[in-house]
Amino acid sequence: MNTVGEKKHPPEKPGSILRPEAALPEDVRDYALRPARLDEFLGQATMKENLAIFIAAAKERGESLDHLFLTGPPGLGKTTMARIVANEMGVDFTETSAPALEKAKDLVGILTSLKPNAVFFIDEIHRLRPEIEEKLYIAMEDYELDFVIGQGPGARTMRLPLKPFTLAGATTKAGMVSSPLISRFGISCRFSLYESAEIEAIIRRSADILGIGIDAQASALLSRSSRFTPRVTNRLLRRMRDYAQVRKLPSITLDVVRYGLERLEIDELGLERLDREILRMIIERYRGGPVGAETLAISVGESVDTLEDFYEPYLIQAGLLQRTPRGRMVTAAAYRHLHLEMKRPPDGLFPDL
Ligand SMILES: Nc1ncnc2c1ncn2[C@@H]1O[C@H](COP(=O)(O)OP(=O)(O)OP(=O)(O)O)[C@@H](O)[C@H]1O
Ligand SMILES: [Mg+2]
Repeated sequence: MNTVGEKKHPPEKPGSILRPEAALPEDVRDYALRPARLDEFLGQATMKENLAIFIAAAKERGESLDHLFLTGPPGLGKTTMARIVANEMGVDFTETSAPALEKAKDLVGILTSLKPNAVFFIDEIHRLRPEIEEKLYIAMEDYELDFVIGQGPGARTMRLPLKPFTLAGATTKAGMVSSPLISRFGISCRFSLYESAEIEAIIRRSADILGIGIDAQASALLSRSSRFTPRVTNRLLRRMRDYAQVRKLPSITLDVVRYGLERLEIDELGLERLDREILRMIIERYRGGPVGAETLAISVGESVDTLEDFYEPYLIQAGLLQRTPRGRMVTAAAYRHLHLEMKRPPDGLFPDL
């Protein structure tokens, strides 16, 4: 029942442990835009080439694929890739997230019901409870589960055999995953921000699927505003389609994208209002930094997680922010971008570009 591939709509999943897809945000529910096969997945070329080989080899041997560790900033395709792996292997895909696994019996219930060689996806794998993580070690290594039967002095530990499976663990915080767990993954997929050309290819593919044209210049501007992140690309593209549609245009023009980005308060570097607020806060309240992540997060009213996972990677990539051992600092480019004057000269502490 958890097989993906042919299904156009998210499968119904009973119970609270397996994630209810209908509750997910629009972009995650948008199955139509989500690549289902390896050759539809654009970008991350080396990772794809490696996976293609590992998948072909595992299939030839008739074995499950080795356990898969997927890390990188949000919206780059970790969940998508795990699903693709299941499709390419021709096996079931079962999805949950670490915080949903509250008791050991939750894990036991899922593991014992997996079909042979299934891909079992655990999102936010850095948030596993220690007792569950320990059970997982044995399951990953030996395809067995420890069971305690009885109580007190008569209690006995039994081992329950499992069918071979592939654990796919995803996280935006690789640094928070314990090393015993990391060492049990045989394949590591590290997602990096996409190149502009790859984002433009994603725009072309998604526009095709949505049945709308897009001009070359419009696509280039949209790509520059996408934070090198396919989830953002697809979200912006859908909004631009809305703007084009109400104007009764058959395709998305440069004019539409300019208008749309302005309405969405996204500037020519792809910064959203909160990105600019973060930079402005560091400049105006902390004289350009350094300032600690917690203090900064409180100042802009966001969680540290959101700040670190979503906002910072792009600001760093765009050359506007630096992470230093003493805290976050803006670069000279950030002053220029916001048209703000530097209050103090670059003095060696101040990262210049
Ligand atoms: N390489 C790609 N080509 C085309 N579309 C992509 C690609 N990668 C991701 N997408 C699109 O971006 C969306 C977000 O991807 P996905 O949900 O897999 O990201 P994620 O890394 O799991 O994010 P999170 O950390 O928030 O869970 C997908 O629904 C898919 O439509
Ligand atoms: Mg995901």
